[in-house]
Amino acid sequence: MVASLKVGLAGLGTVGASVVRLIERQREALAARCGRAIEIVAVSARAKEKPRGVDLGSARFVADPVALATQSGIDVFIELMGGEGDPAKGAISAALGAGKSVITANKALLARHGIALARLAEERHVALNFEAAVAGGIPIVKTLREGLVGNKLSRIYGILNGTCNYILTRMEQEKLAFADCLKDAQRLGYAEADPGFDVDGHDTAQKLAILASLAFGIEVDPNAVYVEGISSITPEDLDAADELGYRIKLLGVAVATETGIEQRVHPTMVPKDSAIAQVMGVTNAVTVDADAIHAITLVGPGAGGMATASAVVSDLGDVARGVRTAPFGRPAARLEKSEKAPMQRHEGGYYIRLLAVDRPGSAATIATRLAEQQISLESIVQRHRGGRPHGGDNPASASGPVPVILVTYATTEDAVRKALAAVQGDKVTSGTPQVIRIEKN
Ligand SMILES: NC(=O)c1ccc[n+]([C@@H]2O[C@H](COP(=O)([O-])OP(=O)(O)OC[C@H]3O[C@@H](n4cnc5c(N)ncnc54)[C@H](OP(=O)(O)O)[C@@H]3O)[C@@H](O)[C@H]2O)c1
Repeated sequence: MVASLKVGLAGLGTVGASVVRLIERQREALAARCGRAIEIVAVSARAKEKPRGVDLGSARFVADPVALATQSGIDVFIELMGGEGDPAKGAISAALGAGKSVITANKALLARHGIALARLAEERHVALNFEAAVAGGIPIVKTLREGLVGNKLSRIYGILNGTCNYILTRMEQEKLAFADCLKDAQRLGYAEADPGFDVDGHDTAQKLAILASLAFGIEVDPNAVYVEGISSITPEDLDAADELGYRIKLLGVAVATETGIEQRVHPTMVPKDSAIAQVMGVTNAVTVDADAIHAITLVGPGAGGMATASAVVSDLGDVARGVRTAPFGRPAARLEKSEKAPMQRHEGGYYIRLLAVDRPGSAATIATRLAEQQISLESIVQRHRGGRPHGGDNPASASGPVPVILVTYATTEDAVRKALAAVQGDKVTSGTPQVIRIEKN
C-alpha cells in the first residue's frame, strides 16, 4: 500500500482553515484520485487556542512555523500565513532546503522572492506550487504551466483584483462616485481599511508579474510593471464608455511586443461584447491569446476561503501524485530578465476626456494638435454641460468648460502625451485630461 502524504500546514486563517475543511470533505475522492491518502499531521498558527471551526484531528500544534517546515514527519509544507518576509519566507526556504515540496498562496512573497525560491526547489528536486497565489480559485497557473505548453502566447490579460472590479461595477451600474463605492466596499468587507494596495493597482501588478513569468519565460519582477489605479475614474467616464460600446475594467496586461514584454496595470476600456467585459463584481477573469487555441477566458472566484483552498488542494494533488514541473514553467536559469517596457512606446487606441474652454475655435485647436502627432480620431463627442452629447464642433451656448470626448485609432502613448501637452499649452482646456487606454479583443 502507498504511504499517505503527510502535510504540515502553517496558517489556519481564512484559507488555511478552509484547506483543512476541504481535505476532510474530499478525503475519499482525493485518495482515489491521487492513489494515496492525504493527511494533515502538524499545524502552526499564532494562537494555539483560537477556535478555528474545523476538526484538526490528531494534528500536532507546532508554535514555530520554521520548525514545522523541517520536521522529519512531513512530506510537504503548506504556507498560508502570508507576508513577503519572515516567518513565511524563512519557513518556505527551510522546507525546500530540507527537500520538502512547498505549496503557498502568497503572491507578495512570490513576486519578491519567487525566482530565488524556484532555484532552490529545482536544486532540491522538489515542487514549489502556487496555484492559489493568482486569481484564487481559477486554475490559471496550471493552465499556463501545463495546459498551454504547446502554444506560443502573445498576450495575457485579466481582472485580478476583486475589490477594484466590485467598485467599478457599482460605479457603472449605480452611477456612483469612486469614493462612495470604496466606502461601501469597506463597510461590506470587500476592501481593506487601507485600500491603497488594491485600488492603486499594486496587488494586480504582483499577480500580473507572476502570470507574465509563466506566460513568457521572464523573471518575476513587479518593478517591471507600469501601474495606474482606478481612483481617477469618474461616473462620466463610465457613462461615456457605455455610449461608445465599452466597459472600464482594471486590467493587468502582459503582451509580447517587438521590443520585449510589456507589463502594465491600468484602467482599460474593453469592448462590451468581449468575454472580460461580462465579468462583474468581485469575480476574476483571465484571457490568454495563443496561436493554437486563439483565445480562452477563465472566469471564477478570485478569493474566498473555499475557492482558494480548491487551488491549494489541487497543488497538493500534484505532490501526492508525484507530478512536478519547474515552478515558473521552465528552469529558473532559462528565464529571461524582465525589463520595464517604456510606456511611451505603447501602441493602441485611447479615450481622452477634456474640458474645453467655451470659446470658438477650441475644438479646432485640439483637433490640430492631435493631427500634428498623426493621431486619427475614431469619434469625437462634445457634451452639454449637463452631460448629454452635443455632437459636432459647435460650442455650447452658456459659458464655462465643455466636456469633449475623443476616441483615437491606434497611436502611441508618446504621441498622445505630446498632443495633450500642446493642447494644455494652448490654454484651450481646463483641468487635467483623462486618458484611458483601449484594449481590443
Ligand atoms: N483570503 C483569501 O481569499 C486569499 C486568496 C488568495 C490568496 N490568499 C493568500 O493566502 C494567504 C493566507 O491568507 P488568509 O486570508 O488565510 O490570511 P489570514 O486569515 O490572516 O490567516 C493567516 C494565518 O496565519 C497565521 N499566522 C500569521 N502569522 C503567523 C506567525 N508569525 N506564525 C504562525 N502563524 C502565523 C495566523 O494565525 P492566527 O490565526 O493564530 O492569528 C492565521 O491563522 C496569504 O498569503 C494571502 O495573500 C488569500
